[in-house]
Amino acid sequence: MRTLHVDLEDRSYPIHIGENLLDQPELLREHIRSHQVLVVTNTTVAPLYLAKVQAALQGLQVDTVVLPDGEAYKDLAHLNLIFDELLAKAHNRTTTLIALGGGVVGDMTGFAAASYQRGVDFIQIPTTLLSQVDSSVGGKTGVNHPLGKNMIGAFYQPKLVLADIAVLSTLPERELSAGLAEVIKYGLITDIAFLAWLEQNMPALRQGAADALEYAIYRSCQIKADIVAADEREGGVRALLNLGHTFGHAIEAHQGYGNWLHGEAVAAGTMLAAKMSARLGWLSEAEVQRVAAVLDAAGLPTESPEDMDAEAFLRWMAVDKKVLHGKLRLVLLEGLGNGVVSADYAPEALLETLAKAS
Ligand SMILES: NC(=O)c1ccc[n+]([C@@H]2O[C@H](COP(=O)([O-])OP(=O)(O)OC[C@H]3O[C@@H](n4cnc5c(N)ncnc54)[C@H](O)[C@@H]3O)[C@@H](O)[C@H]2O)c1
Ligand SMILES: [Zn+2]
Repeated sequence: MRTLHVDLEDRSYPIHIGENLLDQPELLREHIRSHQVLVVTNTTVAPLYLAKVQAALQGLQVDTVVLPDGEAYKDLAHLNLIFDELLAKAHNRTTTLIALGGGVVGDMTGFAAASYQRGVDFIQIPTTLLSQVDSSVGGKTGVNHPLGKNMIGAFYQPKLVLADIAVLSTLPERELSAGLAEVIKYGLITDIAFLAWLEQNMPALRQGAADALEYAIYRSCQIKADIVAADEREGGVRALLNLGHTFGHAIEAHQGYGNWLHGEAVAAGTMLAAKMSARLGWLSEAEVQRVAAVLDAAGLPTESPEDMDAEAFLRWMAVDKKVLHGKLRLVLLEGLGNGVVSADYAPEALLETLAKAS
């Protein structure tokens, strides 16, 4: 097991990463301060891992909320089911909420913890690769509104994150690849040595090799934690984490949410960022090919949807071609392992990159 300490003054917390951590109850119990716990999970994850978590909490008052599975239920109505249970079972201010699931369950449970009685303890047991390397670090929590994704939420840090690699064995292959898009992103923005390690170890990662997964998750969380520690509320350097995301969000929206997984859209978006960087003279053609190769090895798309032209991208990015004068801040690569945030480019460079997107 590896442990990473996320350093945020009085909101600091450990992330334990390793195999079969759910079989070690003391890891969890150490951070629970009263006799009350509410485990929030969903209909897919509950039959797989809820019993294990309940067993680890034996002797405590353990209540559960099993949400329907899907981004479509990440809303205020379903958040309210968590409050209903907390109040019905008379949970007090010393209770602990445990999120057992992917990013959807994590974001909802975190927001419930942030707001129930103005804030109660929160533990994350992320069960997707994406949630282990991304949403469990950084403290963003929340739900969607019909008019916008993640529009209602709070910054709220957990007391503990338990990333058990064993649970990834049941994750669909496509979801594992989607998580790898974010892992590759960390290498591209800050650490070329990690990128090289990923190139070497991609087959092992996709086969579920525990050692490789443990290191990839550890290094990813470390990179994100360092960036978040420097910029907890996203004033500056945290924007680097959005590599591929401005384009990726446009792809997700254009395709209709859920048709492309977030990580798949980020992968295609990362390719656009790399190509745009090459157009500005910041990456060589060989480096662009290296980005494509590592994404491809991870089982991710490297091309945007065929029916998306520059107009479509700009529309979804809410940018008007006529007023586009490098005003759109993009995360680009000034060399592999060196992300930069820039609005300092000729608009034509962006338009030409997008015109050749697919
Ligand atoms: N808070 C943040 O900083 C942050 C960062 C990135 C993403 N997010 C949010 O995270 C969400 C996406 O997270 P996700 O990719 O984990 O999606 P998800 O939570 O929808 O999980 C993906 C699918 O995998 C299933 N699943 C989860 N664990 C499993 C397991 N061990 N075995 C089998 N199936 C399993 C889920 O039930 C679901 O069907 C989005 O809502 C996004 O907004 C938040
Ligand atoms: Zn992302």
